[in-house]
Amino acid sequence: MPRNPDSKDPQQGSASPNVSRRRFLQSAAAAATAGAAPHLYAQQPVVAAAPPAPRAPVPPRPVTLNINGREYALHLEPRVTLLDALGEYAGLMGTKKGCDRGQCGACTVLVDGRRINSCLTLAVMHEGEAITTVEGLARNGTLSPLQEAFVKHDAFQCGYCTPGQLCSATAMLGEFKAGTASTVTADVRRRPAQLSDEEIRERMSGNLCRCGAYSNIVAAVRAVNEGTA
Ligand code: FES
Ligand code: FES
Repeated sequence: MPRNPDSKDPQQGSASPNVSRRRFLQSAAAAATAGAAPHLYAQQPVVAAAPPAPRAPVPPRPVTLNINGREYALHLEPRVTLLDALGEYAGLMGTKKGCDRGQCGACTVLVDGRRINSCLTLAVMHEGEAITTVEGLARNGTLSPLQEAFVKHDAFQCGYCTPGQLCSATAMLGEFKAGTASTVTADVRRRPAQLSDEEIRERMSGNLCRCGAYSNIVAAVRAVNEGTA
Protein backbone atom coordinates (compact mmCIF):
# COMPACT_ATOMS: atom_id res chain seq x y z
CA MET A 1 0.00 0.00 0.00
CA PRO A 2 1.51 3.39 -1.00
CA ARG A 3 2.59 5.59 1.85
CA ASN A 4 0.93 8.93 2.47
CA PRO A 5 3.76 11.42 2.07
CA ASP A 6 2.14 13.84 4.53
CA SER A 7 1.85 11.26 7.25
CA LYS A 8 4.06 11.39 10.33
CA ASP A 9 6.68 8.77 10.89
CA PRO A 10 4.97 6.68 13.52
CA GLN A 11 8.25 5.84 15.22
CA GLN A 12 9.89 9.29 15.16
CA GLY A 13 6.80 11.42 15.79
CA SER A 14 8.07 13.99 13.25
CA ALA A 15 7.70 14.67 9.51
CA SER A 16 9.10 11.86 7.39
CA PRO A 17 12.18 12.45 5.18
CA ASN A 18 9.90 12.41 2.14
CA VAL A 19 7.84 15.29 3.54
CA SER A 20 10.95 17.34 4.32
CA ARG A 21 12.27 16.79 0.82
CA ARG A 22 8.99 17.78 -0.76
CA ARG A 23 8.74 20.98 1.27
CA PHE A 24 12.31 21.84 0.43
CA LEU A 25 11.61 21.37 -3.28
CA GLN A 26 8.48 23.54 -3.03
CA SER A 27 10.47 26.33 -1.34
CA ALA A 28 13.25 26.12 -3.91
CA ALA A 29 10.73 26.26 -6.78
CA ALA A 30 9.08 29.33 -5.28
CA ALA A 31 12.42 31.09 -4.87
CA ALA A 32 13.44 30.22 -8.43
CA THR A 33 10.15 31.57 -9.75
CA ALA A 34 10.63 34.86 -7.97
CA GLY A 35 14.19 35.14 -9.27
CA ALA A 36 13.14 34.36 -12.81
CA ALA A 37 10.55 37.12 -12.84
CA PRO A 38 12.46 40.36 -12.35
CA HIS A 39 9.66 42.21 -14.10
CA LEU A 40 7.64 41.72 -10.94
CA TYR A 41 10.12 44.03 -9.23
CA ALA A 42 10.44 46.32 -12.21
CA GLN A 43 6.71 46.92 -12.09
CA GLN A 44 7.01 48.49 -8.67
CA PRO A 45 6.27 52.20 -9.00
CA VAL A 46 9.44 54.27 -8.88
CA VAL A 47 9.15 57.50 -6.99
CA ALA A 48 11.33 60.11 -8.64
CA ALA A 49 13.38 62.25 -6.28
CA ALA A 50 12.40 65.87 -6.29
CA PRO A 51 14.93 67.99 -8.21
CA PRO A 52 17.09 70.14 -5.97
CA ALA A 53 15.90 73.67 -5.59
CA PRO A 54 17.94 76.00 -7.80
CA ARG A 55 20.49 78.01 -5.86
CA ALA A 56 20.93 81.66 -6.37
CA PRO A 57 24.33 82.31 -8.01
CA VAL A 58 26.91 83.82 -5.72
CA PRO A 59 28.12 87.00 -7.41
CA PRO A 60 31.79 87.55 -8.19
CA ARG A 61 33.75 89.56 -5.66
CA PRO A 62 37.11 91.31 -5.76
CA VAL A 63 40.00 89.00 -4.95
CA THR A 64 43.65 90.03 -4.85
CA LEU A 65 46.19 87.28 -5.37
CA ASN A 66 49.94 87.61 -5.05
CA ILE A 67 51.33 85.45 -7.85
CA ASN A 68 55.04 85.29 -8.57
CA GLY A 69 55.60 88.46 -6.56
CA ARG A 70 52.98 90.47 -8.41
CA GLU A 71 49.52 91.52 -7.21
CA TYR A 72 46.63 90.46 -9.42
CA ALA A 73 43.31 92.24 -8.77
CA LEU A 74 40.71 89.75 -9.97
CA HIS A 75 36.92 89.50 -9.89
CA LEU A 76 36.01 85.93 -9.03
CA GLU A 77 33.05 83.84 -8.01
CA PRO A 78 33.86 82.06 -4.75
CA ARG A 79 33.59 78.69 -6.51
CA VAL A 80 36.53 79.40 -8.88
CA THR A 81 39.47 77.11 -8.19
CA LEU A 82 42.97 78.48 -7.88
CA LEU A 83 43.86 76.55 -11.04
CA ASP A 84 41.13 78.24 -13.06
CA ALA A 85 41.94 81.62 -11.54
CA LEU A 86 45.55 81.28 -12.70
CA GLY A 87 44.77 80.26 -16.26
CA GLU A 88 41.46 81.93 -17.03
CA TYR A 89 41.65 85.14 -15.00
CA ALA A 90 45.32 85.92 -14.36
CA GLY A 91 46.42 84.76 -17.82
CA LEU A 92 49.14 82.47 -16.49
CA MET A 93 48.91 79.41 -18.70
CA GLY A 94 51.92 77.52 -17.38
CA THR A 95 50.02 75.60 -14.71
CA LYS A 96 48.29 72.67 -16.36
CA LYS A 97 44.94 70.99 -15.82
CA GLY A 98 45.21 67.24 -16.13
CA CYS A 99 42.50 65.50 -14.13
CA ASP A 100 40.95 68.46 -12.27
CA ARG A 101 40.41 66.18 -9.27
CA GLY A 102 43.68 65.86 -7.40
CA GLN A 103 45.02 62.74 -9.03
CA CYS A 104 47.77 63.76 -11.46
CA GLY A 105 49.72 66.67 -9.96
CA ALA A 106 49.87 68.60 -13.24
CA CYS A 107 48.38 71.64 -11.49
CA THR A 108 50.92 71.75 -8.64
CA VAL A 109 51.91 75.24 -7.51
CA LEU A 110 53.61 76.60 -4.41
CA VAL A 111 51.68 78.52 -1.77
CA ASP A 112 53.93 80.07 0.86
CA GLY A 113 56.54 77.53 -0.23
CA ARG A 114 54.29 74.48 0.15
CA ARG A 115 53.24 72.44 -2.86
CA ILE A 116 49.52 72.05 -3.39
CA ASN A 117 47.17 70.87 -6.12
CA SER A 118 45.63 74.08 -7.36
CA CYS A 119 42.60 72.22 -8.76
CA LEU A 120 41.58 71.24 -5.23
CA THR A 121 41.51 74.66 -3.64
CA LEU A 122 39.52 77.82 -4.15
CA ALA A 123 41.23 81.00 -5.22
CA VAL A 124 39.47 83.10 -2.58
CA MET A 125 41.21 81.06 0.11
CA HIS A 126 44.64 82.34 -0.91
CA GLU A 127 44.44 86.09 -0.53
CA GLY A 128 47.48 87.30 1.36
CA GLU A 129 49.58 84.25 0.49
CA ALA A 130 52.56 84.03 -1.85
CA ILE A 131 51.65 81.88 -4.84
CA THR A 132 54.42 80.65 -7.13
CA THR A 133 53.72 79.04 -10.47
CA VAL A 134 56.16 77.60 -12.97
CA GLU A 135 56.43 81.08 -14.49
CA GLY A 136 57.90 82.29 -11.19
CA LEU A 137 60.65 79.70 -10.81
CA ALA A 138 63.09 81.48 -13.12
CA ARG A 139 64.64 84.70 -11.83
CA ASN A 140 65.52 87.62 -14.10
CA GLY A 141 65.52 85.37 -17.13
CA THR A 142 67.70 82.72 -15.52
CA LEU A 143 66.27 79.24 -15.16
CA SER A 144 66.20 77.68 -11.72
CA PRO A 145 68.65 74.82 -11.08
CA LEU A 146 65.81 72.32 -11.45
CA GLN A 147 64.71 73.81 -14.75
CA GLU A 148 68.30 73.64 -15.99
CA ALA A 149 68.56 70.04 -14.85
CA PHE A 150 65.30 69.04 -16.53
CA VAL A 151 66.68 70.38 -19.81
CA LYS A 152 70.07 68.76 -19.31
CA HIS A 153 68.64 65.37 -18.35
CA ASP A 154 65.88 65.41 -20.95
CA ALA A 155 63.33 65.00 -18.16
CA PHE A 156 60.23 65.52 -20.29
CA GLN A 157 58.68 64.50 -23.56
CA CYS A 158 55.38 66.27 -24.24
CA GLY A 159 56.03 68.60 -21.30
CA TYR A 160 52.45 68.67 -20.04
CA CYS A 161 53.33 67.41 -16.57
CA THR A 162 56.55 69.43 -16.38
CA PRO A 163 55.27 72.61 -14.68
CA GLY A 164 53.79 70.49 -11.90
CA GLN A 165 56.90 68.33 -11.69
CA LEU A 166 59.12 71.40 -11.37
CA CYS A 167 57.00 73.06 -8.69
CA SER A 168 56.64 69.80 -6.80
CA ALA A 169 60.37 69.02 -6.96
CA THR A 170 61.23 72.56 -5.85
CA ALA A 171 59.19 72.15 -2.68
CA MET A 172 60.25 68.53 -2.22
CA LEU A 173 63.95 69.45 -2.07
CA GLY A 174 63.11 72.00 0.60
CA GLU A 175 61.14 69.40 2.55
CA PHE A 176 64.07 67.00 2.40
CA LYS A 177 66.54 69.65 3.56
CA ALA A 178 64.19 70.43 6.45
CA GLY A 179 64.39 66.78 7.51
CA THR A 180 60.88 65.73 6.60
CA ALA A 181 60.51 61.96 6.45
CA SER A 182 58.65 60.06 3.76
CA THR A 183 56.92 56.70 3.87
CA VAL A 184 60.08 54.98 2.62
CA THR A 185 62.37 56.62 5.17
CA ALA A 186 63.82 53.79 7.25
CA ASP A 187 63.71 55.66 10.57
CA VAL A 188 61.16 58.47 10.56
CA ARG A 189 62.63 59.89 13.80
CA ARG A 190 65.82 60.81 11.98
CA ARG A 191 66.57 62.91 8.98
CA PRO A 192 66.97 60.63 5.95
CA ALA A 193 70.66 60.10 5.33
CA GLN A 194 70.45 60.77 1.64
CA LEU A 195 67.90 61.51 -1.01
CA SER A 196 67.96 58.13 -2.70
CA ASP A 197 66.16 57.41 -5.94
CA GLU A 198 63.58 55.52 -3.89
CA GLU A 199 63.03 58.62 -1.74
CA ILE A 200 62.72 60.82 -4.81
CA ARG A 201 60.20 58.49 -6.43
CA GLU A 202 58.11 58.29 -3.29
CA ARG A 203 58.22 62.02 -2.61
CA MET A 204 57.30 62.78 -6.23
CA SER A 205 54.65 60.08 -6.47
CA GLY A 206 51.84 62.64 -6.58
CA ASN A 207 53.06 63.85 -9.96
CA LEU A 208 52.22 61.53 -12.82
CA CYS A 209 53.91 61.59 -16.21
CA ARG A 210 51.95 59.95 -18.97
CA CYS A 211 55.02 59.96 -21.20
CA GLY A 212 56.92 57.91 -18.64
CA ALA A 213 59.88 60.23 -18.27
CA TYR A 214 60.28 59.18 -14.68
CA SER A 215 63.87 57.91 -14.79
CA ASN A 216 65.09 61.19 -16.29
CA ILE A 217 63.02 63.24 -13.84
CA VAL A 218 64.61 61.33 -10.95
CA ALA A 219 68.05 61.86 -12.46
CA ALA A 220 67.45 65.60 -12.76
CA VAL A 221 66.20 65.92 -9.19
CA ARG A 222 69.07 63.82 -7.87
CA ALA A 223 71.61 65.96 -9.73
CA VAL A 224 70.23 69.16 -8.24
CA ASN A 225 70.23 67.70 -4.76
CA GLU A 226 73.82 66.52 -5.15
CA GLY A 227 74.92 69.75 -6.80
CA THR A 228 75.98 68.02 -9.98
CA ALA A 229 73.33 69.36 -12.31
S1 FES B 1 44.73 68.72 -12.43
FE1 FES B 1 45.04 68.95 -10.31
S2 FES B 1 45.77 67.03 -9.66
FE2 FES B 1 45.30 66.72 -11.75
S1 FES C 1 56.40 64.65 -20.26
FE1 FES C 1 54.47 64.15 -21.12
S2 FES C 1 53.23 63.79 -19.40
FE2 FES C 1 55.18 64.05 -18.56
